[in-house]
Amino acid sequence: METTTTPSHGILSEDRREEREELIGMLEKAYWMELETVMSYLANSINPDGVRAQEIKESLEEDVQEELGHARQFGARIKELYGVVPGSLEFQAEQRYLQPPEQQTDVVHVIKGVIEAESGAIEYYNRIIEFCEGRDLVTQDMVIDILRDEEGHRRLFEGFLREYQAEGLA
Ligand SMILES: [Fe+2]
Ligand SMILES: [Fe+2]
Repeated sequence: METTTTPSHGILSEDRREEREELIGMLEKAYWMELETVMSYLANSINPDGVRAQEIKESLEEDVQEELGHARQFGARIKELYGVVPGSLEFQAEQRYLQPPEQQTDVVHVIKGVIEAESGAIEYYNRIIEFCEGRDLVTQDMVIDILRDEEGHRRLFEGFLREYQAEGLA
């Protein structure tokens, strides 16, 4: 009977173990970033008050689903790379800028927080994409797709901010 073997080429091979583990570490961080974003956007899709807040709330409600989908993709890729999706006790929060504002009508605070979160994701995902170059094109392909979503989110909220800036409110 033939024994099962790991692939001899590519990121799943035994002699690429070290690189694979480094990549898994990066994917774990991305996974946590997405889940923290889910928490922050969920709160900010509920808290804001006022007529002008409605658009922001609806947009964040949609984003919650997208960011959750990203977390799911990062988790699945961790598993495919022979890693284990971490448990909640390993989570460490970092998004100070997305905590609820003092006044729930302070929509600008929320918009700026979202832009900062998206910028952080864009920066980090670019680093993962660079790391994957010549190492793991499957992960790279996945993260490029996710990066595009984050660029779209960022652009949308930049547009919201411009409107407030044009009126001298930000
Ligand atoms: Fe995301
Ligand atoms: Fe996003």
